[in-house]
Amino acid sequence: MSYTIAISGKGGTGKTTISALITKNLIEKGKTPILVIDADPNSNLYYVLGVEKGETIGGVREDLLREVKSGKIPAGISKETIFELKFQSSILESKGFDLLTMGRPEGPGCYCYANLVLRRCIDELSKNYKFVIMDNEAGMEHLSRRTTQNIDDLLITSDSTPMGIITAGRIRDLVDELELRVDNIYLIINRSNPELNENLIELIKEKNLNLLGIIPEDENLIEYSLNEKSILDLPTDSLSFLAVNAIIQKLLI
Ligand SMILES: Nc1ncnc2c1ncn2[C@@H]1O[C@H](COP(=O)(O)OP(=O)(O)OP(=O)(O)O)[C@@H](O)[C@H]1O
Ligand SMILES: [Mg+2]
Repeated sequence: MSYTIAISGKGGTGKTTISALITKNLIEKGKTPILVIDADPNSNLYYVLGVEKGETIGGVREDLLREVKSGKIPAGISKETIFELKFQSSILESKGFDLLTMGRPEGPGCYCYANLVLRRCIDELSKNYKFVIMDNEAGMEHLSRRTTQNIDDLLITSDSTPMGIITAGRIRDLVDELELRVDNIYLIINRSNPELNENLIELIKEKNLNLLGIIPEDENLIEYSLNEKSILDLPTDSLSFLAVNAIIQKLLI
């Protein structure tokens, strides 16, 4: 069974960066193989991981539907087999991890069948990895349709503002509404001083959020982002990497 960590949170609060830092951390500890899933339609995880942009699952699904409509599916091969082959070819393999990029969500039309096959493909694929790391958009609606897998830890990211914490509370409530199977839900505050403001501490308590860790502003991350360098190459004494290391240790994985 793979151990699944999903990351969600308000826009721009560091979901993609933290997904990449967790991946780096697990690779350095030899906790591989890892399946990294970019479930944000505005896919940019490939970029911070320094790998090429592969085919997206959204693209595979659209191609298949187009081929079915135009009667281009070769005789004797099922739609499902073709989808599975295309799905396999969209997995980008790298050192210690494979990357699956979901891409655009469904447009208008009936996608029930494609989604059913897709979910089965993702569930089957996930079994081959020790860890699955999922970078999500703030809304988690698509997650329930993508996989039936249990999420071990959902990490909700926030900045050190009341709005970030309020959004984190909403995301947590959404998990309950969507009946997602999540074992633990934690809050991570990013780009903040270790000393949180009293009001913020009160708000976190009020929203019943479980603060797992604080990641400081990291000059190295800013430099890496500006110069388009892979987060996987970030020095291991970088403040953000050390903070993520402490967070992973708390998860006891
Ligand atoms: N701890 C940090 N120190 C310095 N810069 C950071 C830190 N965390 C994130 N950043 C920078 O902040 C920006 C936004 O981060 P990121 O893209 O990871 O956020 P996101 O939540 O994935 O955004 P989106 O909602 O657009 O997907 C990036 O330029 C990233 O390099
Ligand atoms: Mg992102």
